Amino acid sequence: MTNPKKRTAILISGRGSNMKSLVEAARRPDYPAEIVVVISNRPDAPGIVWAKDQGIPALAMDHKLYESRAHFEGQIQSVLAASRVDLVCLAGFMRLMTPAFVESWRDRMLNIHPALLPAFKGLDTHARALEAGVKFAGCTVHLVRPEMDEGPILGQAAVPVLPDDTAVTLGERVLAAEHLLYPRILELFAAGLITVNGNKSSIVSDVNGLWAQFSPQI
Ligand code: GRF
Repeated sequence: MTNPKKRTAILISGRGSNMKSLVEAARRPDYPAEIVVVISNRPDAPGIVWAKDQGIPALAMDHKLYESRAHFEGQIQSVLAASRVDLVCLAGFMRLMTPAFVESWRDRMLNIHPALLPAFKGLDTHARALEAGVKFAGCTVHLVRPEMDEGPILGQAAVPVLPDDTAVTLGERVLAAEHLLYPRILELFAAGLITVNGNKSSIVSDVNGLWAQFSPQI
């Protein structure tokens, strides 16, 4: 018997292009995760409209309308429980969650960050990468821990920094890499092919020739 697909929620705050890449990858019949719900903390997030158009249950839960952070997170937990979610993918989700929430999803919640962690945590990663003069930039998918942009690295993709790059052009190149990396890492992780020991992960074996570290030709 084949393993059941991991029921996966995606949390967004805006455009949702990484969400799209996960949704599109998960359409493959043999993909080991299915996207069962999309939640946005911003009611005006363009991504929520797209998800609804695809027929995916998509909810706007405006954090400003809840009396406390605990109440907001409690409602999210209720939706995740009702959708029988196994894995949570943060994709441009711009709310920091409490340690209690994060710990309740320990080793079951992934995030994508637009830099090669542990360099350039936080915001404005591309401008800071250019300022630092790095020759490679990229993106990281990692397990979420209570500290921002911390947690075991599951996979990374590197792209070159070109001489005339601006934060915008570099950001576009990194985003194209994000759209390749996140579906690939979710595939490996949901299939149980990545093990985590302390702060380090390793690939048990590859699936469909996928690897968790690469430099895409983009
Ligand atoms: C991406 O660059 C992601 O790495 C970061 O926020 C951005 C979200 O973009 N965490 P999108 O909403 O997925 O298009």
